[in-house]
Amino acid sequence: MQSIVEDIEQVIEEFHPEAHHEETGRIMEIGDGVAHIEGLRNVQLNEMIDFGHGITGIALNLEEDSVSAVVLSSAETVREGQIVRSTGRLLEIPCGRALLGRVVDPLGRPLDGKGPIATQEVNPIERPAPGIIARASVSSPLQTGILAIDAVIPIGRGQRELIIGDRSTGKTAIAIDTIINQARLNQDAEAADDTTETHPVYSVYVAIGQRQSSVAQVVHALEECGALKYTVVIAATAADSAAMQYLAPFSGAAVGEWFMDRGMDALAVYDDLSKHAVAYRQMSLVLRRPSGREAYPGDIFYLHSRLLERSACMSAAAGGGTLTALPIIETQTGDVSAYIPTNVISITDGQIYLESDLFHEGIRPAMSVGISVSRVGSAAQIKAMKEVAGKVKLELAQYYELKAFAQFGSDLDAKTVAQIEHGRRITELFKQGQYSPFPVEDQVVQLWAAQQGFFDQVPVEKTHEIRMKFLEFVHVQAKDLLEEIGRQKKLTPDIKKSLEETVANYQSLT
Ligand SMILES: Nc1ncnc2c1ncn2[C@@H]1O[C@H](COP(=O)(O)OP(=O)(O)OP(=O)(O)O)[C@@H](O)[C@H]1O
Ligand SMILES: [Mg+2]
Repeated sequence: MQSIVEDIEQVIEEFHPEAHHEETGRIMEIGDGVAHIEGLRNVQLNEMIDFGHGITGIALNLEEDSVSAVVLSSAETVREGQIVRSTGRLLEIPCGRALLGRVVDPLGRPLDGKGPIATQEVNPIERPAPGIIARASVSSPLQTGILAIDAVIPIGRGQRELIIGDRSTGKTAIAIDTIINQARLNQDAEAADDTTETHPVYSVYVAIGQRQSSVAQVVHALEECGALKYTVVIAATAADSAAMQYLAPFSGAAVGEWFMDRGMDALAVYDDLSKHAVAYRQMSLVLRRPSGREAYPGDIFYLHSRLLERSACMSAAAGGGTLTALPIIETQTGDVSAYIPTNVISITDGQIYLESDLFHEGIRPAMSVGISVSRVGSAAQIKAMKEVAGKVKLELAQYYELKAFAQFGSDLDAKTVAQIEHGRRITELFKQGQYSPFPVEDQVVQLWAAQQGFFDQVPVEKTHEIRMKFLEFVHVQAKDLLEEIGRQKKLTPDIKKSLEETVANYQSLT
């Protein structure tokens, strides 16, 4: 039963559709890209305001008798006294496959000179996160192709895993390699003409507050690796307004949600949320919102939590799509206890800690295995990987402890020496160059060999070289073995037997 009030509202709606959707208002004051507008009585938070001449703004502060809106493009032509219109539409971004391979701004306008984007579909930039009922627990892997990560802190589809570290510790590199690995899976699926089995992941890379040249480098690297085709790049660089930088990750989530809503899998990288927080602080200052700790506005925690909550693994009933998030945070001299880092740590399901010291020692990726975690854990690994990687984290922990102990120069028994030597080899295997993700089969084969002590007999400094030679041998001589691991996803007795034979064949040759 509708109440009378609702009836009346419906009648008004039918006869005057714009009655409470579109209104005109007048700019009382404009400065720093913020317009204070009177007369827009029914405007909603995040509603688009039409400033004429193709200039859009968003309503952000709703006060009793005025509205503050941030002008999204150049505000030079916007004048006091000018009439503006509310649109009744929340800020939105074009979505869909047409965006793949493109570089766009947070409103979906092309930045790559490749012409207009052919799509009619849009998603609101801000949208409530899926509820708990619609979600399922994370259960399938999002393989990064980076051995150290996939082996000891596996990431699942729908998870939020933070990449955190100081300047220039390889944070972006991890995200880009992950995107490249998804592209490889996409290519495999295309080659096999089958996406039902492999469920490839589409990626969204959001660059926030970076130099234009850094973004160009990322785009170039993705292109070179054939990954841009499966990726949407959303960029709001340091040269763009704080409002655009603030919007960028939300736009990225909206583009990722388009895939998730259709039962597909998407990955969103937010590079990085430290700069995002700074942009939000700046925007809040011009909006004259009160500030709190470290001068950040009080709702900064809510800002990042509502962004990251939008990542989800949907239940089968809700379509089964996923949106995985890899937010990035830059720390100052390793201080993870600062305000923004602790916030984002507490919102995510795990962290990849990168350390400058490791990076400079040549351990790249510079991931600290001891303190990095993934709370989804081995639920996000295929069985074969679980089997070979299960002990690795423990072995490494023991290695670090023994290594520290061994520095005192005391006599060590043979077993301890063997443990240290084994740990050194695993550390070597975990070193990996950029742009060369390992397929999961290759990861399984090398970890299996490592567990059998295969690398313990070779000089430490040759570990990487021999690994590559061995993998090449396997690809040439035992292609069916790799295929079988890919198909079975577990180590059957037959697979183990052929692994043994392959290792023996390789050894007999060298
Ligand atoms: N696994 C790796 N092997 C070799 N070089 C690497 C590796 N990972 C990163 N690098 C190099 O280290 C440098 C820093 O990497 P990257 O730009 O990814 O770091 P970042 O933490 O994102 O830096 P910023 O703080 O500037 O955003 C780059 O020159 C990159 O090529
Ligand atoms: Mg970076």
